[in-house]
Amino acid sequence: MQENICQKFLQATYLKNCQNTKKSQALPPPAKRPLFADAVLIALPEPELLPDKQINFLELIELRSSVRQYSTAYMTLKELSCLLWCTQGVKMGLPGGSTIRNVPSAGACHAFETYLYIQRVEGLRPGLYRFLAPEHALVFLDTADNAEKSLLAGFKAANMIKDSAVTFIWTARLEAMAYAFGNRAYRYLFIEAGHVCQNLYLSAYTLHLGVCAIGGFYDEELNAALGIDGQDEFAVYAATVGKI
Ligand SMILES: Cc1cc2nc3c(=O)[nH]c(=O)nc-3n(C[C@H](O)[C@H](O)[C@H](O)COP(=O)(O)O)c2cc1C
Repeated sequence: MQENICQKFLQATYLKNCQNTKKSQALPPPAKRPLFADAVLIALPEPELLPDKQINFLELIELRSSVRQYSTAYMTLKELSCLLWCTQGVKMGLPGGSTIRNVPSAGACHAFETYLYIQRVEGLRPGLYRFLAPEHALVFLDTADNAEKSLLAGFKAANMIKDSAVTFIWTARLEAMAYAFGNRAYRYLFIEAGHVCQNLYLSAYTLHLGVCAIGGFYDEELNAALGIDGQDEFAVYAATVGKI
């Protein structure tokens, strides 16, 4: 009989099999990811209160849907700031350096990085960026000219990426979660990606922006396009965003 590696994954990640973690042994926590020495931070505007404060919560839940076609209009920097705040915004720092954010995370580990492929945001040069959640700032990584070809090769629905104003790509830094949870970290990372993307859908709806979640990416190509190794850090989920 063929080995069912997914069943093996489930068993290997049973809670009882993942108790002997680095945290439980009081080993030092993983280092924070360093920025390049010459990284220039682009401060984002304060995320404002959502414009439509009267929005009915049940209506918001019911009307959420995936939008795959976008206009060529530009998003504002404030809109982008708001989406980043809703998906990864840091509400509070905790002793030891961890954070409480607008999305839940097992053990408040918050192991995600948000990469942004930006094509139409007012005031930002098109290109690949990384969001720094604690600073609520962006770091420019590469021009769109350099990044486009390799990024598009990473997605099955490359046309949707091409048409988006911004594509969000969430990667996981495994050790940030595995330190506390061992191999069970893989489960938590995939679960948490749903929380993040749902907040993107809901916040974008209130800003009259369209979103489509993207699980159809070619892992190796996308990881390579982002300059990550696919093991210590790997792409988990993505979503296109644009003006409707
Ligand atoms: C985990 C996940 C992965 C998805 N991947 C893709 C994708 O790669 N391409 C795409 O066009 N839509 C993708 N979607 C969007 C779904 O197709 C969409 O949610 C579904 O058709 C239901 O439509 P609704 O979101 O409008 O309710 C994905 C959704 C989820 C939750």
